[in-house]
Amino acid sequence: MCGIIGVTGRPSAVDDILAGLRRLEYRGYDSSGVVAVLEDGLGVVKRSGKLDRLDAALATAPLAAATGIGHTRWATHGAPTDANAHPHLDPAGRVAVVHNGIIENYRALRDDLAGAAFTSDTDTEVVAHLVARELDGPDGVDLLEAVRRVSGRLEGAYALCVVSADEPDTIVVARRQAPLIVAAVDGVGLCASDVAALIEHTDTCAALLDGQLARIRPDGYTVVDADGTAAAADEFTVDWDLSSAEKQGYEHFMLKEIHEQPVAVAETLLGRDDGAGNVTLDELRIDPSELARIDKVFILAAGTSLHAGMAGKLAIEHWAGVPVEVEVASEFRYRDPIVTDRTLVIAISQSGETTDTIAAAEHARAQGAPVIAISNVVGSTLARAADGVLYTRAGPEIAVASTKAFTTQIVACLVLALHLAQRKERLFASEARDVLDRLDTLPALVQRVVADDTAVLAAAERFKDVGYTMFIGRHGGLPIAYEGALKLKEVSYLHAEAFPAGEMKHGPIALIEPGSLVVAVAHDGHVFAKMVSNIQEVRARGASVLAVATASSRDALAEHADVVLTVPDAPHELAAPLLTVLPLQLYAYHVAVLRGADVDQPRNLAKTVTVE
Ligand code: AGP
Repeated sequence: MCGIIGVTGRPSAVDDILAGLRRLEYRGYDSSGVVAVLEDGLGVVKRSGKLDRLDAALATAPLAAATGIGHTRWATHGAPTDANAHPHLDPAGRVAVVHNGIIENYRALRDDLAGAAFTSDTDTEVVAHLVARELDGPDGVDLLEAVRRVSGRLEGAYALCVVSADEPDTIVVARRQAPLIVAAVDGVGLCASDVAALIEHTDTCAALLDGQLARIRPDGYTVVDADGTAAAADEFTVDWDLSSAEKQGYEHFMLKEIHEQPVAVAETLLGRDDGAGNVTLDELRIDPSELARIDKVFILAAGTSLHAGMAGKLAIEHWAGVPVEVEVASEFRYRDPIVTDRTLVIAISQSGETTDTIAAAEHARAQGAPVIAISNVVGSTLARAADGVLYTRAGPEIAVASTKAFTTQIVACLVLALHLAQRKERLFASEARDVLDRLDTLPALVQRVVADDTAVLAAAERFKDVGYTMFIGRHGGLPIAYEGALKLKEVSYLHAEAFPAGEMKHGPIALIEPGSLVVAVAHDGHVFAKMVSNIQEVRARGASVLAVATASSRDALAEHADVVLTVPDAPHELAAPLLTVLPLQLYAYHVAVLRGADVDQPRNLAKTVTVE
């Protein structure tokens, strides 16, 4: 959730840090700060609010240094004030720390520092005190060893980045659960919480593994394990260029990313089989024969990724013939799930850093279940922890509201369902190739939908002030009803909720009255007639109905709905959600813009939730 960047070896270090923090804004934050290692000690500027405030403060008090670290904070302990903004220093001002995560035992550690003066309410500040005490201790340790000793006393999740006035060209980092990457290029040492902050400097990074630390200097970095022994970080190449993280002319990242979906879907489909229909995964670190024995699947995720999993469930049960439970990740490990070594866990996470999803997957793995990750970030914590990975190849998703990740996650689920069906010998390669050939028509169909949002914009203008919207759907339309409701509420702040259309009579229909708005996802297929009945029921009670239809269902809906948003027929019924979601993404976007909401960084939300 917080953003970290460190630079050593460049006279413009502070400018580089500010630029990097701006690339991390999408993570959501409410304060920011910079510390520079000056000739006469540490220089610190930090402010609550947006980066513009920090920029303005630096303009009046510039920090000229070749080494520094920066931070954008999303408050967890302590309100978003100047004092609570990172970095945090020890009382003598010789050590500065920025941190992403939660140190769960910080109060006990503070208690051990009886008499120490603290200037903030944060958990992070205690780290600066402890590191300084190690440096001032009798052993004469250096910064890396001091941070290593301190990090061994911390409980919880952290990505730490530390500088000291005594080692002016050195940055030390440590990670447990919260992501950290390091790089060294052309005499400059770098670290950051994610690649977006570094892609203008390098395309080769290394991800620290849990428990690892690194000392970064202009001539390179050294990685050690928690016990101090030399180690190797997980090096990877980033194929995102800087422009792909910019808006490329769109008003908002959300709109840009909606329009990137044709390419994202095409990329995610690319090379998924050997040409003859034998479907493969990006990385598989378990024996394929294990998958043949699977007799149960759990799909674990949060938010939009959970809704993609709901669509994935239908495909896995249809092709692989295995029962699938889709579960909110944050619930899974706090109950008693029945997990055996024949249970497969599919963990879906765009960022690959969602604590709830990672923790749930690790909980299942600890009970013997193999884990396959579907993630959009190469080298993410979830991807590296899993036994198999399918990357969604959607490119950086900057907007908090997830769009292209969602459609590519459904593609990945379809591919994975085919792969599982083949491992269980339920699908011939030729049949899988036929399905993939049909799915290969999706990018062009997605392009047709996003290319013309005239009807969607008209609907948004008509309904933008409706205070409550009910979304309904059945089978493949139900995940889209949930996703459409989430999109609308998270970017426009209007209340919206989704129900299985078959549930209406069991309660929700009591909400319907003249003026109600119901969004009905009604693609052609085996439950279409039932959707028409549900639409008639709410219409008879005075609701306005905004229907999402496919070309084959449009005419039958025209007489029952007030507005019909039409998408092309899907190449397979299980792929229909990829198309029916598009008008609802655009609808949520336009309503939010019309209402003047902060589309890319909605209030209270962060792009990645790396705390419980
Ligand atoms: C969706 O628009 C939200 N940004 C949120 O629900 C998100 O999908 C959820 O936090 C999961 O994130 P992940 O895919 O990175 O794990």
